[in-house]
Amino acid sequence: MSDTQSSSSTAPAESPKPMPFAIMRNAHEALRASILLQEQKLDSGDDASFREEWQTFQRAIAIHMAMEDDTMFALLDEVGGGAITTAMLPAEHLEDAILARAVNDVLDSGDPVALRAAWTAWKDDHLNHLKHEEDVMMPLTMKTGPTPEARARIMHDRVLVPSEVLPGFDWYVGWVVYMLSRYGSAGHTAAVATRGFVWGLQHACSPAQWNRLRPVVERNTTAEIWAELTTKFGLGGAGAIV
Ligand SMILES: [Fe+2]
Ligand SMILES: [Fe+2]
Repeated sequence: MSDTQSSSSTAPAESPKPMPFAIMRNAHEALRASILLQEQKLDSGDDASFREEWQTFQRAIAIHMAMEDDTMFALLDEVGGGAITTAMLPAEHLEDAILARAVNDVLDSGDPVALRAAWTAWKDDHLNHLKHEEDVMMPLTMKTGPTPEARARIMHDRVLVPSEVLPGFDWYVGWVVYMLSRYGSAGHTAAVATRGFVWGLQHACSPAQWNRLRPVVERNTTAEIWAELTTKFGLGGAGAIV
């Protein structure tokens, strides 16, 4: 998967490159981290804590899915001969909403067995959806442009600009950065997972957009990761799209 990382731990000499579509791909790792936290909170019987994590996740996934429904799916259908629609990814979003509603219906029931059953059904389906999207979408992202710069332009024009007007968009960026900075992913350290998302974002941002989002990123990452991002990757500078 091309946008999951910007360097490999087995190839330290290779210089990492910005991956604009990591804005979408690495967000999945933040979602997975939250799902793991939800499971831990359910296991511990901490209902209030579970509810808080679940509701935060729902706020984030609403924005992530809107970005896909309103921008990414059409873009990748264009370059992929309708592959997104053929794979029924939009329909999977509708299915997810039904399963999530079933969790909401028992959230305040005080019935831990019903809550666990509804949540597990939702979780299994949701994790399958994330993997399905990665399998279908990531190869297509490489067809949107021949270079990282061309793909950054497409990401800017077709995804970022129409999505940043979504209510809560800047909060969502901060949430993804927060989760990646604390939990990383199964395959990458927190520093690498965060860098993939943030570096891709800076390359898809105009200077004005990055001026707005840079402080959101800074206050949601750790001091150590932010120091590395600014000293080694120039993220304290300007957005790359001019
Ligand atoms: Fe999705
Ligand atoms: Fe997604």
